[in-house]
Amino acid sequence: DQYCVIMAGGIGSRFWPLSTQKFPKQFQDILGTGRTMIQQTYDRISKLLPAENIFVITNLEYVALSHQQLPEIPADNIVGEPLMKNTAACNLYMANKIAEINPDATMVVLPADHLILKEDVFLEKLAIAFNLASENDYLMTLGITPTRPDTGYGYIQFVDKKDSDYFKVKTFTEKPILELARSFLDSGDFLWNAGIFVWNVKSIQKAFDNFLPEMTQHFAACEYNSEGEKSCIESIYPKVQKISIDNGILEKAKNVYVIPANLGWSDLGTWTSVFENTEKDENQNAVNVKNMLSYQSEGNIIHLKNNNKAIVIDGLKDYIVVDTDKVLLICPIEHDQLIKDYVLDLKNLK
Ligand code: GDD
Ligand code: MG
Repeated sequence: DQYCVIMAGGIGSRFWPLSTQKFPKQFQDILGTGRTMIQQTYDRISKLLPAENIFVITNLEYVALSHQQLPEIPADNIVGEPLMKNTAACNLYMANKIAEINPDATMVVLPADHLILKEDVFLEKLAIAFNLASENDYLMTLGITPTRPDTGYGYIQFVDKKDSDYFKVKTFTEKPILELARSFLDSGDFLWNAGIFVWNVKSIQKAFDNFLPEMTQHFAACEYNSEGEKSCIESIYPKVQKISIDNGILEKAKNVYVIPANLGWSDLGTWTSVFENTEKDENQNAVNVKNMLSYQSEGNIIHLKNNNKAIVIDGLKDYIVVDTDKVLLICPIEHDQLIKDYVLDLKNLK
C-alpha cells in the first residue's frame, strides 16, 4: 500500500514576521490562491492517494488548525508532536506508525509549504518513485535544477548513467556555506533536494537503525496505534535528538537515489522565493499595497498587513519591508537567511 505523510510542524521562521509561531506559513494562503499551503499539498496528493492513507504530522499546537483546514483527513491521521525536534524524529515516528498498519507499505513524505506548478509532472515522478521504492532498498528524493547558490537547500550530486529516470546519489550536502553552494552551482553537476522523499518503511527504519540508533531505541519503546501511544510519545520526546532527516540520514546513507523533476517548484521558505513567485511592478518591486509612491527604488519586497496604508520609498534597493501589527522588519534581501536569527535575538531581548 502507498501512504503519504505531510510534515507540517515547522514555524517558518525565515518567513517572519508574516509566519509566526502562532500561525506558521503552511497554514496561510501566502500567494493569495484561496487555499493555504497545506491545503494545496493535500489537494495535490489526494489525486494519487485516498484520504485514509494521508497523514499529517505537526506540533500539538497545530493539530486543531490542521483538522480545521483538512476536514477530509480522518482525525486519527493528524498526529501531534509534543516538542519540535526537526524532521528526523517525525519521519521515524510516522514510519513506525505506518509499518504497524502495513509492514510492506511505501510512503511519500511531503513538506507542507511548497509551490508546485506542474502537478502532472509531480504525480508522474511520484508514481515512478513509489514503484522503485516498493521493490528496492532505496531512499528516493526528487531533485530540482538549481538556479542560484541558495544556502537554504540540500545539494545532490549524482552518478550519471544516461537515459534513466533516476540516478544514484554520490554526495548529499545539506545547507552548504555560500562558497560551496556557488561551486556546486558552477559545476553543473548538482540538483537541489526538493525535500520530497519516497521509501518503503523497512528501508527507512533500517537507515535510522544504522545512522540514528539511539532514536530508533527511543521510538521502539512505544506501541503504535494503541491507547498508550500518545503518552509514550510524550515521555520519549524530551530524550530524542533534534536533527533534520537531511543531516541525520540522507547525508550519510549510501542508498539514496534521485529523480530529476522539473516541477515548477519553489520552497516558499524565504522572502526571496515569494518575490520570485509574485507579480512585480515596472521597477521590479513586489508590493502588496495599493498606494505606493516610489522614486529610484527597485527590487524591493514590500508587504504591509494593513495594505490601505500608503507608503513612500526613495532610493531603496533590494530590501525587504514587512509591517504587521506587532513587527516592522527592514532588511536587505540578501540577508533573508538571517531572518530566523533575528527572531531568536528578539526573543532574548524580551
Ligand atoms: N512534524 C514536524 N516536526 N514537521 C517539521 C518539523 C518538526 O519538528 N520541522 C520542520 N517540519 C516541516 C516543515 O513545516 C516543512 O514542511 C518541512 O518539515 C521541511 O522543514 P523545513 O524547516 O522547511 O526544511 P528546510 O526548508 O530548511 O530544508 C528542507 O527542505 C529543502 C527544500 O525545501 C531540506 O530537506 C533541504 O535539503 C531541502 O533542500
Ligand atoms: Mg522549507
